[in-house]
Amino acid sequence: MTDAHQFLISFAQALARMSLYAEGHPARAAAAEVSFRRLRTLQQADPRQSFSFVGREVIYGQHALRELQDWDWAEHLSAAGVQRLEFDAEVGPEEYREFLAEILGRLGLHAAAAAPRMARPARPTPIRFGAIGVRDAASESSIDGEEGTAGSGRWDSRIVDFSEEAEAVQWMHEAVTSGQRLPWSEAELVVASLSTAMHNEREVLLPLLTLKDFDQYTTTHSINVSVLAMGLAEALGLSAREVRAYGVAGLLHDLGKVRVPVDVLRKPGALNEHERRLLNQHPVDGARLILAGSRKHDMCAAVAFEHHIMIDGGGYPQRHTRRDCHHASLLVHACDVFDALRTHRPYRVAWGMASILAYIERRVGAEFHPDVAVPFVRMLRTWEMRQAAASALEEEAVPAAL
Ligand SMILES: [Fe+2]
Ligand SMILES: [Fe+2]
Repeated sequence: MTDAHQFLISFAQALARMSLYAEGHPARAAAAEVSFRRLRTLQQADPRQSFSFVGREVIYGQHALRELQDWDWAEHLSAAGVQRLEFDAEVGPEEYREFLAEILGRLGLHAAAAAPRMARPARPTPIRFGAIGVRDAASESSIDGEEGTAGSGRWDSRIVDFSEEAEAVQWMHEAVTSGQRLPWSEAELVVASLSTAMHNEREVLLPLLTLKDFDQYTTTHSINVSVLAMGLAEALGLSAREVRAYGVAGLLHDLGKVRVPVDVLRKPGALNEHERRLLNQHPVDGARLILAGSRKHDMCAAVAFEHHIMIDGGGYPQRHTRRDCHHASLLVHACDVFDALRTHRPYRVAWGMASILAYIERRVGAEFHPDVAVPFVRMLRTWEMRQAAASALEEEAVPAAL
């Protein structure tokens, strides 16, 4: 990895991490500090640095940065009016932190959006950014549209506290990692508790968690996929028993990741071939771990094995013959893709709801089975409309309460 590549990855990682923490949290300063050090390293060779973001490409100085040829963050920075970025030699850590906070605001990321908007300083600054060919940052356009707002918590229909469930899932993962059998009763208890949280007297809720810490990704994601799988199974009219079974399958679909080295799971950039092979082993390992725990749960093992298989035969694990996947695997696959895309990752910003639903609709018949994907999209659109109506009601209620 070149210094420029390392710096940009640290820059994206700092933005992603800072979006998770409120202003003043020490994790924000720590993330900015790491990225600032990368900038300093880069500046040792050449004190003045310039980057341009064109589509998904990065131009460093005069040359395309080949390592980041298809970089999501380039597209989002560019869309937020940060097409050109220049650093002078005298950038200080404080200025760099302020700059990151302003970029977060422009990207519409959660924590910075909640913080007061910083005014651009009138004095000359050692960090300049803006549209290509326009050096005056004051004339930049701000981000428009729904991209980049995902993960902000705006989608959550209400504040949920699943900390006990998250701890239980983490404990289960640790138990399996240390060679113990999968504690089934714990998994079933977590799903029962999620199911209770999903129902009020009138309707089914989708209380999805927002990622607070990258180290918690698999735990948070497992809980969300379980909730989504149960919501969809219920919408499809499955029995209460089946809904719970789908919930357990959703909770355990990525269990095989306990066997993937942590540095591969947390790697901020693209995986190399060897790392990709290690990651792609998780469906097979997951199915083995589940079957070692109990032969009674073969549906969960099937879902763990099949949740990355597309209906046109794409995806992984590689198969020599065509495989008709279990209905629960088709359903979990859609929920899995949805939750993965709605979450900020160090190498990719979260997608907005409309983009994810459009993606799923486009891929119906190729990646997703219409019997699950069409009702899934319908369920999420209904949910979104219901939330919009609820927020409008809340806003109306505020003046009356004053
Ligand atoms: Fe997976
Ligand atoms: Fe997953």
